[in-house]
Amino acid sequence: MAKVLVLYYSSYGHIEQMADAVAEGARSAGAEVDIRRVAETAPQAVIEAAHFKADTAHPVIESPDKLAEYDAIIVGAPTRFGRMPSQMASFWDTTGGLWFTGKLIGKVGGAFTSTASQHGGQETTLFSIITNLMHHGMTIVGLDYGYQGQMGVKEVHGGTPYGASTLADGDGSRQPSDVDLGGARHQGKRIAETAAKLFG
Ligand SMILES: Cc1cc2nc3c(=O)[nH]c(=O)nc-3n(C[C@H](O)[C@H](O)[C@H](O)COP(=O)(O)O)c2cc1C
Repeated sequence: MAKVLVLYYSSYGHIEQMADAVAEGARSAGAEVDIRRVAETAPQAVIEAAHFKADTAHPVIESPDKLAEYDAIIVGAPTRFGRMPSQMASFWDTTGGLWFTGKLIGKVGGAFTSTASQHGGQETTLFSIITNLMHHGMTIVGLDYGYQGQMGVKEVHGGTPYGASTLADGDGSRQPSDVDLGGARHQGKRIAETAAKLFG
């Protein structure tokens, strides 16, 4: 049975919902799944002024060394100016020891994201995450076109071949749609299946 970690950061809950869907997909493929978030690093004044969601559903990851315990690591973060937030980047900046000892080489990885606007940087944010995973030697699995929900332009929806995604709108009022959550589930399932083939 593959062991999968869903690791995320979320200020307003969109990525938190996507993380649950990714985990659901991975579990549907028989994986044992943990969901962890990275620590909040923004100053309290910013957290309050920007109305960040205080009640997050999942525990903070205890230490970067925990990553070594999983066969697959799926990382979710909303965009910040077209790249991952500093909260997530700070966490990866603490993984130098794992890189030095090659502890994540060959593990399966993937990314998912959220933006306010349709062209607000989904792909660049996903690649800013994927870059870290590739430097660690991980094998990347995106959102394959087996998930046809990512096609079509008649309605606003997320989903990219580089990873699942959702849109929040400028005021955060749009919630992940069924299509967006379906993409997250599909990617989670595919990553768990890939990990099971490699490590099962
Ligand atoms: C400092 C900052 C920068 C942001 N930059 C962008 C951006 O470049 N493009 C965009 O579409 N949304 C941008 N957003 C909106 C967030 O991506 C949006 O709030 C997020 O996707 C919602 O996900 P969450 O609920 O998981 O935090 C930005 C938000 C903040 C606070």
